[in-house]
Formats: sequence, structure tokens, C-alpha cells
Amino acid sequence: MTELAALEESILGGTTARRNDTVIARGAGCWLYDTTGRRYLDLGSAQGVTLLGHCHPALSKAIADQAQTLISCPNFLYNDVRARFGAKLVEVLPPHLNHVFLANSGAEAIDGALKFARLTTGRLRTIAFRSAFHGRTVGAVALTWEKKYREPFLPLLDVVHLPYNNLAKVDEALDESIAAVFVEIVQGEGGVNIGDGDFLRGVERLCRERGAMLVIDEIQTGFGRTGRWFGFERHGLQPDMICLAKGLGAGFPMGAIAYTDCVQEKLYVGAHGSTFGGNPLACAAGLAAIQTYQDEGLIERAATMGEYFLRRLREELADMILVREVRGVGLMLAVELRQKAGPYLKALMEEHSVIALPAGPNVIRFLPPLIITEEEIEFGVQALVRTLSAADAG
Ligand SMILES: Cc1ncc(COP(=O)(O)O)c(C=O)c1O
Repeated sequence: MTELAALEESILGGTTARRNDTVIARGAGCWLYDTTGRRYLDLGSAQGVTLLGHCHPALSKAIADQAQTLISCPNFLYNDVRARFGAKLVEVLPPHLNHVFLANSGAEAIDGALKFARLTTGRLRTIAFRSAFHGRTVGAVALTWEKKYREPFLPLLDVVHLPYNNLAKVDEALDESIAAVFVEIVQGEGGVNIGDGDFLRGVERLCRERGAMLVIDEIQTGFGRTGRWFGFERHGLQPDMICLAKGLGAGFPMGAIAYTDCVQEKLYVGAHGSTFGGNPLACAAGLAAIQTYQDEGLIERAATMGEYFLRRLREELADMILVREVRGVGLMLAVELRQKAGPYLKALMEEHSVIALPAGPNVIRFLPPLIITEEEIEFGVQALVRTLSAADAG
């Protein structure tokens, strides 16, 4: 192990599995560079966050400029950048989601939405889905499905986990005790499981009929990932709240809850809060991120490049026995294997300089930056073909 890897592991290790001893030192566009200068194509966008690629000049400049102007501002005073960022965010949201609470991460946004749902409905219980991932704070992990994330920490909040894409089960479980249904449009960590439109619209209808809130977790699907600004737009949904993070700051740590007048009416001073949420540095990053998505037409680009990526994967992997299914929505793609994905993810990186993500045990997941080119997609596809065909032949 290199000295730096050992140093980091000895102090900061324990909860995160590292793929190998590589120490990443810088990034540019879709590429990461290690301390030896070797480059890797980052088809995971640093866990789905760098939607503009690494160190996009507009984002880096906005952060650098703001860092010289004002980094922290007390929340009890207004701030020019915070105001402008709020206005920019609601500009890309549907008109009914006209209020925003700013937090610092995805899980924190989920925790806030849990509180807002309880406050608005006066109810306590929540529905989430099997294979869902909503984060790992004490509130969010109650909604998350994976056993190893939850079980040692029981008892958690009262959450009913139902099978995804099964409306009949929601119909059975959604009674007057349920404050909210939390759902992903495409389950990201859980395997790139694509939500069915009829199921999602059915959940919305049942929530309306029975007085529960529909909370859509757009933390991974938001900001163009699925080829739309937000995944719920694909199905014409009108959620009561959405949770945002990842693409919100295009890599700068921030989270948000966007919600309706109905939720706003129940909020009061002190109902929720955050020291760092809405700090000027994050707001400058968020403002630059959304402006750049707009200026560079990246949401539309994600749809086009996503179709291209999916088609190329299907063409190249069609005959491989090892591959069970290739699926995707926009630039959120999955190659499901008949075996564990871990060894292939490692080989993809070590032998072919491509970084991809897992999603459940058997899935290789691609969440590339929205700026990715056809050449870079081709680099990734060929690397995957070489990695998998070595095993397929053997
Ligand atoms: C859908 C979804 N929700 C919530 C989270 C948690 O976000 P964070 O890691 O910023 O707390 C994630 C992170 O991967 C996610 O993909």
C-alpha cells in the first residue's frame, strides 16, 4: 500500500470499502488523475455528483470568486447569492414546488422531508420500497432497504417497505397512519431498477385519495441524469416534495427539499434548521451549476448521449452469456451480470482505466457526467467489452 493510502486508511478508514490503493489527486472533465499521473475515465461522476465533469471552469470560477467575497453568512440575515440561487432553482422546478429548504447532503434533505411530512399530515408512519436507498443518517436509513445498513441500528422510525412497482401492495398498506410515501423514479443504488409509469402515477393517486404526501427522492435522478431536469417529469407527476443533492451543486456538497404551499403553511420558525445549509459558497456553486446546465443544453444532451450509450452497450454485449440485461434511462445505465460485479469493476479500473459504480451485487452502473462525448462513451464501452469478454471466453 502506498504511504498516502495507508495514512488515509489508518485514520479515515472503517466504513468505506476502497476499490484499491489508487490515490486520486485531480480531475478534469470526465477524467480523474492519480498521484502518479495515470488517468481514469470517471463513468461514475464521483458517485453521481459531477454532472458538469470535474472542475468545470464555470463552476470552479464561481466557487473561487465567492470564496474571495463571502463564505459564511448567518442564517438570520439575508444574502444576495442565496436569494439568487433560490430563484434560479425554482425557475427549473415545476411551479407548484415553489419553496425550498437548503441543506448539505442527500440524507439531510431526506431527514428534513420526513419531518415536514409529519408536520404537514400529523401522521407518523412512512412507506418506502424494497431496494430503496435514501441515505444513512438515522432518519434516512430507516427508509433505506439494505439490511446491513439498517439492522444493527434498530429500532428506527416506523417504515413499511413494500415491493417496488407493485401498486396493489401500496393500495393495501396506505392507510390513515401513513404520512408519506418516499420513492425513487429509478432506484439507483438498489440496482438501476426503473420505476413503472403506471405504478408511480398510481402511488400518486393513492397518496392524494388518502391524505399522504408523495415525496420523490431525486437525489440521484435530478438535474438531467434521466434526460429530463427531474425524473418525475417523465411520468407527469406532481410530488408534494422532492429531495435534491448530487447534481444540485454539481459536486459541491449541498442538498435541498423543494415543497408546496401546503407544506409551507405548516412550517414555523425553528421547525427545522442548519448552520451550513444555504451558505454563500454552496449557493454560488449551485447557481453556476444550474446556469451551466442551461447554457450548455446539458439536459437535452443527457437524453441524446444516454440513448447512444445504451444502444452501444446493447450492440456490444448482446451475445455475452455473462450479461443478464442492459438497461437505462438517460445517462443512468446498468449492465446486470449473472455473477458478482465487484471483480469486474476492479478489473475495469485496474486494467482498462475506467471507473464505474456498483448497484446491488450484480450490477455495473454508469452515471457519466452530462458533458461526456461519443469518443469517451466508446472508450468506456470497449473497456467493458474487453473486461467482460475475458471472463465470458473463460
Ligand atoms: C437516491 C439517493 N438518495 C439519498 C442518497 C444519500 O445522499 P448522501 O450520500 O448525500 O447523504 C443517495 C446517495 O447515493 C441516493 O442515491
